Amino acid sequence: MNTSSNSDFAKDDELELFNSSLLTRLPNLPKENGLLVRPLRSTDYDKGFIQLLGQLTDVGNITKDQFLNRFFKMKIAGGYYVVIVEDLNGGEVVGSATLVVEQKFIHNCALKGRLEDVVVNSKYRGRHLGKLLVSTISQLSRSLQCYKLSLDCRDRLIGFYESLGFQREVGNANSLNIRFETTPEHSRL
Ligand SMILES: CC(C)(COP(=O)(O)OP(=O)(O)OC[C@H]1O[C@@H](n2cnc3c(N)ncnc32)[C@H](O)[C@@H]1OP(=O)(O)O)[C@@H](O)C(=O)NCCC(=O)NCCS
Repeated sequence: MNTSSNSDFAKDDELELFNSSLLTRLPNLPKENGLLVRPLRSTDYDKGFIQLLGQLTDVGNITKDQFLNRFFKMKIAGGYYVVIVEDLNGGEVVGSATLVVEQKFIHNCALKGRLEDVVVNSKYRGRHLGKLLVSTISQLSRSLQCYKLSLDCRDRLIGFYESLGFQREVGNANSLNIRFETTPEHSRL
């Protein structure tokens, strides 16, 4: 079976985070056998999406209600594009990456993309699925008219992202953070 980027397989009772035609119209979407590149769906809690994110960082014990609550808030807000790779042979979510589109006033009310939360199931690494996800997000941000796409990453992954077209800009390659204490109640806002 070939990779599809459409919602032909979506059931009536499941919703997609964003319109899948945004992926199907991408000109250079790579093809992988038995894998489906598609938007996050409301049913992906039961397909291992949270466990997959657990291979990226601490996720916490998220219930299905919490997942759905966040899913619908993202959908209503707009600007969130969580792209998934599903292995159709097990119905499991095996890769994910997120594009967040920031609305700006600068540059004539431009749009800026941020690449977030790239992760591939450890059993599937080295098969170019990371590359597939990042290039999909890159093409998607371009097609949405973002003027640039940025990311933060660990030092050891700079080579991975540079191989996919990202560049460190001289004098402008710093990432600074302030970390705040939060409670579970905050995350429900
Ligand atoms: C980083 C990650 C997404 C890569 O996924 P993957 O599917 O194994 O990567 P790919 O198979 O697409 O690799 C694409 C290319 O990048 C290279 N590459 C992969 N990881 C690399 C790394 N850490 N540093 C440099 N190059 C790397 C591969 O060798 C491959 O090169 P090739 O095209 O010459 O064969 C995956 O290892 C992962 O999920 N890691 C844990 C979560 C994480 O750290 N995410 C990134 C957060 S910023």
